[in-house]
Amino acid sequence: MIISPSVLSCDFGNIERDTKMLDASQADWLHVDIMDGVFVPNISFGFPVLEAIRKSSAKILDVHLMIANPDQYLEAFKKSGADYLTVHYEACTHLNRTIAKIKELGMKAGVALNPHTPISVLEEIIPMLDLVLLMSVNPGFGGQSFIPATINKVKKLKELIDSTQSNVIIEVDGGVNLLTGKQLADAGANALVAGNFVFNSANPAQTIADLKAL
Ligand code: DX5
Ligand code: ZN
Repeated sequence: MIISPSVLSCDFGNIERDTKMLDASQADWLHVDIMDGVFVPNISFGFPVLEAIRKSSAKILDVHLMIANPDQYLEAFKKSGADYLTVHYEACTHLNRTIAKIKELGMKAGVALNPHTPISVLEEIIPMLDLVLLMSVNPGFGGQSFIPATINKVKKLKELIDSTQSNVIIEVDGGVNLLTGKQLADAGANALVAGNFVFNSANPAQTIADLKAL
């Protein structure tokens, strides 16, 4: 299981300290949430913060764009240190072009689906993807409750991936803890994002190790 703690839940007054803690942990990736106040009803942070995270971490940066018109910023995200760049299906009119551009820039390409968006919209694009991010909350905030219907979506996505013999990571984001994480692992998820569950625990590094062992 790939574990990608969400830095959205870290202490932004001590971002370097928290990033270094994640770096020394068993986390595989760092999940970085970019919100623009348009696609989602919240604003997180932009390029300077992403660059600071890049400088203080050797981990793979798993960047989740919750922004309208991502196309105009793809190069800037590459320059700021993104390794995986995930755009929302709901924000991309010409998704094929967007994914091709992300790959051309040398990043791994992901597509995120909101909770109401069915797996079937991925049928044509799946062979091009490195990752699908299933939202198990409505995007915009950390600390929300897991939407149980996501379990079934993971199973459907796994069927689609297997049927096309594609090699795509199934990542789930929102309300992940040991209980929901276990259900997701059993359903076929290979990567879990966790924000509040990690940072609000008494020992974040141990919590990451517990998720890793799922
Ligand atoms: C939600 C973000 C998530 C968030 C998850 O819009 O995409 O990555 O940080 O936080 P938790 O794990 O607290 O639900
Ligand atoms: Zn996210």
